[in-house]
Amino acid sequence: MQQIEWDESLSVGVKSIDEQHKVWIEKLNTLSAAIASCQKTRHISRTLDFLMDYVEFHFAAEESLMTAKNYPAFAQHKSEHHQFRMTLMDLFVLEVEEDDAVGKIADSINNFQISWLRNHIQQTDRRFANFLRAKSPAPAEAVNCSS
Ligand SMILES: [Fe+2]
Repeated sequence: MQQIEWDESLSVGVKSIDEQHKVWIEKLNTLSAAIASCQKTRHISRTLDFLMDYVEFHFAAEESLMTAKNYPAFAQHKSEHHQFRMTLMDLFVLEVEEDDAVGKIADSINNFQISWLRNHIQQTDRRFANFLRAKSPAPAEAVNCSS
């Protein structure tokens, strides 16, 4: 099972977004590890639920920030989130209905979720983060003239 590690190449330069991406990655790795160590389907299914809940939370957080800041590429960014969400929903349906659900979840992580997350962070989220930083630049450093 593949894992993904957060490093500077995945930083978008906005702390709150980076922190959420780290938690997402941690949850994805937990799911991957649960599958690799042949945990019971019920455990894997619960781990997938935690991941899905977090993804929803994170998408909502990014999207409300985009709305608040009038981000011009909001619709396109939101639609990428939606596509990903739909793919995860397919897994959620699988987990209750099919025998090979774990195999399909594994396949989704190894061949889709990790690469999607990496690409989405490095391109789409970074574009948004650049926009955010341009809108509210970091405060200038204080100059000490007292000496
Ligand atoms: Fe995003």
